[in-house]
Amino acid sequence: MVTDREIAGPHGPVPVRIHEPEGPAGAVLVWAHGGGFRHGDLDMPEADHVAAELARRADAVVVSVGYRLAVGGVRYPVPVDDVHAVWTWVTGRDDLPARKAIGGASAGAALALATALRCRGHGPDLILLAYPFLHFPTPTLGHGRSLENIEDMVRNYVGRISDIPADALPGSADLRGLPPVHILLSEDDDLRPSGELLERQLREAGVPAGTFLARGTTHGHLNRPHDAPAADDASLGFFAGALRVPREAPRWLRRDGEPRIEFGADYNPEQWPREVWAEDVRAMREAGVTIVSLGIFSWARLEPAEGRYDFGWLDEVVDLLHANGILVDLATPTASPPPWLTTKHPEILPVDREGRTVWPGARQHWRPTSPVFREHALRMVRAIAGRYARHPALAAWHVSNELGCHNVDDYSDDAARAFRVWLRARYVTLDALNAAWGTDFWSQRYGEWDQILPPRHAGGPVNPTQQLDFKRFSSDALKDHYLAERRILRELTPDVPVTTNFMVAGDINGMNYPDWAAEVDFVANDHYIGFGAQARDELSFSANLCGNLIAGRPWFLMEHSTSAVNWRPVNPPKLPGELARDSLTHVAHGADGVCFFQWRQSRAGAEKYHSAMLPHAGEQTAIFRAVTELGARLRSLSGVAGIGRTPAPVAVVVDYESWWAAELDSHPTDRLRYRREALDWYTALLDRGIRADVVPVSADLTGYRLVVAPILHLVPASLRQRLEAYAERGGHLVTTYFSGIADENDHVWLGGYPGALRDLLGIRVEEFAPLPDGTAVPLTNGASGTLWSERVEVTDPAVKVLAAYADGGAAVTRRSVGDGSAAYVSTRLGPQGLGLILEDLLTPAGVVSELPAGLRGRVELAIRGPVRFLINRTDEPVGLSELPGAPPALPGRGVVVVPAP
Ligand code: GAL
Repeated sequence: MVTDREIAGPHGPVPVRIHEPEGPAGAVLVWAHGGGFRHGDLDMPEADHVAAELARRADAVVVSVGYRLAVGGVRYPVPVDDVHAVWTWVTGRDDLPARKAIGGASAGAALALATALRCRGHGPDLILLAYPFLHFPTPTLGHGRSLENIEDMVRNYVGRISDIPADALPGSADLRGLPPVHILLSEDDDLRPSGELLERQLREAGVPAGTFLARGTTHGHLNRPHDAPAADDASLGFFAGALRVPREAPRWLRRDGEPRIEFGADYNPEQWPREVWAEDVRAMREAGVTIVSLGIFSWARLEPAEGRYDFGWLDEVVDLLHANGILVDLATPTASPPPWLTTKHPEILPVDREGRTVWPGARQHWRPTSPVFREHALRMVRAIAGRYARHPALAAWHVSNELGCHNVDDYSDDAARAFRVWLRARYVTLDALNAAWGTDFWSQRYGEWDQILPPRHAGGPVNPTQQLDFKRFSSDALKDHYLAERRILRELTPDVPVTTNFMVAGDINGMNYPDWAAEVDFVANDHYIGFGAQARDELSFSANLCGNLIAGRPWFLMEHSTSAVNWRPVNPPKLPGELARDSLTHVAHGADGVCFFQWRQSRAGAEKYHSAMLPHAGEQTAIFRAVTELGARLRSLSGVAGIGRTPAPVAVVVDYESWWAAELDSHPTDRLRYRREALDWYTALLDRGIRADVVPVSADLTGYRLVVAPILHLVPASLRQRLEAYAERGGHLVTTYFSGIADENDHVWLGGYPGALRDLLGIRVEEFAPLPDGTAVPLTNGASGTLWSERVEVTDPAVKVLAAYADGGAAVTRRSVGDGSAAYVSTRLGPQGLGLILEDLLTPAGVVSELPAGLRGRVELAIRGPVRFLINRTDEPVGLSELPGAPPALPGRGVVVVPAP
């Protein structure tokens, strides 16, 4: 609904146009159009179109203000007074939503910000500024707009160009105490520096601020929505996303009763005759099972022929579980399409990089971008959600299964079409894409969108930015599928939480999980422990990251194994104690659910030699006994359920985009493994008894005393600024070889490596010197480097060389920066070598071990509020006499939980 009316103001009535959403409103926005203070009205698109769209997209009431223009002798502060009068009117109404925002475009942004400053402390909850004009003199004016032009505009508005009052062009005002500010920038805007400067000023003033760059647009692009519809859409999406009432806190399982740690497995009753089901449920109760994931691979049973459903057997299983007090995490069975579907529609089958069809016979043989698959999958989702919407056993939705496990890389024609749509949204114009992809290299310049393909098999190395964007797109394409399923589940069962099982484990990186995490009600993860010296640490690393994907929230271990898996070349069983140690390590890092793949070991099929809770040999087995003991142990830990992990003093940063980019082909070495370097740091910290959090690069780093960001390869300007600010304000940053090298388009920062971080680190590197296999370079501190080396030139006197290469030249450096520091490690040292330099990095940061000396290295410590988990990293018992309140010893591979001091 749209209403025009007037509001009383100090200079007379102020016209406003009020746009109301169709449904209930969650927020109200006061909006001021632009026009250089002397043009514009309520009908211009920047007023009317923007207000209408934000009302619709964000479910907000938008009050667009027709403030007095600086014409006919009207000057500052009249326009601010008018906007302020409307703001005061809005805040005085108790029929408007409590969440209040103010915003404006260009000159209107100055009016909005000035109004917010007038009522600092009791002002808006957030501020939206589009390509703002906030400073005079304007910082580094681009081409196109002459200085006289700007001067003329300011003189007309304020009456002079000197002694400008702080709230006339409020970039120069004291900005402290403002609420979060969301700044939309036009890419090719000569006034863009004003918005960018404001962001830096806000950060300096401690105000949360974020920008969104509308690519391929010029100043005032919201006033020309038809010039670049995709950019208009993205820009309004940015504002609407900020304005919309924040998603309610992520939800946990729908269940009654006291908090507890859930315990269970994937349950595949369709593989067994009906008689076995009752046996299953009896044994589940004996083991203490509280929840099962059901129906993951049952599409062919639930819809045996197109449109013919058979839910009878599943009804029976769900009822049986419910009668026995076991919750159901019900899967949408879309992971494995049935033969009738692939026979009728072979066009849903993925195509690999070489152009080979991925045939049925296994699972996940579907293209994330196939409209045909999408239609059938969503029909199935609607059917199952409708069927069980009100079943009391339904605790959560398990969307599909490990999305992307086998089908993340699809190079089909559907993928090509969807990739182009994705690219248009990202780049808007082909010129922008050509620039970002550097297509003048090897004559790859595109003249039409339809010429663009996925990075299919080619005769030589494929354009790296094309590859990087394809990785971004592929993660997004699967997320889009997940969201399509979620939309139906939310529609039919709004109170049932929705999740999907991630694969935060080892080298799996197809999906950018820090990005996905915003879309799940709770994080669920599948983890299968690997082999080798760092396997246990890797489990801890992954578990820890899961706990930081939605910071401070418990998460759910959806799958791990009781013993052997069946998909490695050789699959030994777990050693005694490992089953419990692995599960409890996940709990120590915040898991409030511990589940296995699977409940009963299969007799047939590709996974019949994969361990389960109930093995082929039956209940009289070491595995089933260990499972039952674990169930009891988890019951005794109910007190920690719902309590987040206590943050650590150190963070190890994981950035999926850097991971992708650093491991692309045609690099100085193809031996580099991003996650191995990150894990080495984690292990080295554990070896010294130091707790660390593994956090996404987007996490708030400010609370960490030491931040290790290994191989941080892609560093856009905004990240560089964040890291500089972190160190300036007393943080201690450490980074390594191949960091800071490229921007978000994988274009090298010029002037010497480590590019974006060169000044912060106070060093310069001219060439990389990767090391051939089997070669090592000795360091003066006794460590030796492998994989990589560099001739590091120290360019700043504030840099101290912490370790040098034996043949001369700095290897590890640290520069004092503000109250903090920035350190650089130019080679791969491995956990032991890192151990030799860690003291020099931890001491200035004031980080010390929280464990008694005798336990450091042998025991991992994790803290969840009132309790400490002590995890034996070794196979030998460790005496705990140094720890008050602890039992005398921690058995090999054991875990004890003691009260925190
Ligand atoms: C997971 C999968 C399960 C099962 C398990 C075996 O990747 O989700 O269905 O295959 O691996 O380890």
